[in-house]
Amino acid sequence: MYPWLVTLHLLGLVVFLLAHGVSISVAFRVRGERRRDAVVTLLDLSGRATQVVYVGLALLGVGGLGAAWSAGLLTAPWVVLSYVIVVVTLFAMYAVASPYYHGLRAAIGGTADAPPLDDEALDRRLRTRRPELLATLGGVALVCLVVLMTVKPG
Ligand code: HEM
Repeated sequence: MYPWLVTLHLLGLVVFLLAHGVSISVAFRVRGERRRDAVVTLLDLSGRATQVVYVGLALLGVGGLGAAWSAGLLTAPWVVLSYVIVVVTLFAMYAVASPYYHGLRAAIGGTADAPPLDDEALDRRLRTRRPELLATLGGVALVCLVVLMTVKPG
């Protein structure tokens, strides 16, 4: 067992949580914002934070896989379950978060096919329960992962 791999894994978790906390806060905050420049700034901030999320996920994954390998636990059922939870959550984020937030960023500025959203359309787009859905999906996943990593069942 190499302790530095566990440290890398935990460092990845800290980076992930700090960076994703920005997008989570923006998701709830931006709904109450109607000033166009503020909406753009908040979404830009969240987009930049998402780049750091991937650095956190990479450290988390490399450290976690390395630690599991060095302990001979790569195929232990609770470790395999943690892979499944991470992959399912990633797909959930790509299905629920990405189309909405990427679509909103593009629509505010306008595209080659569509003019920029007017105030009424922007208001409609910002009235969404998506943050609650994402918080439920991601929150349940995070709790399950923390329980698996601490209890290590079996
Ligand atoms: C295990 C837990 C989680 C994982 C692995 C995860 C992973 C991700 C990833 C990889 C993205 C980027 C998608 C892309 O590139 O377009 C993302 C986006 C997002 N996630 Fe999560 N997430 C988790 C938990 C949460 C939670 C608890 C929330 C609470 C609201 C949340 C809200 C969001 C939002 C709002 C975005 C869009 C960010 C943007 O494009 O501005 N996530 N998530």
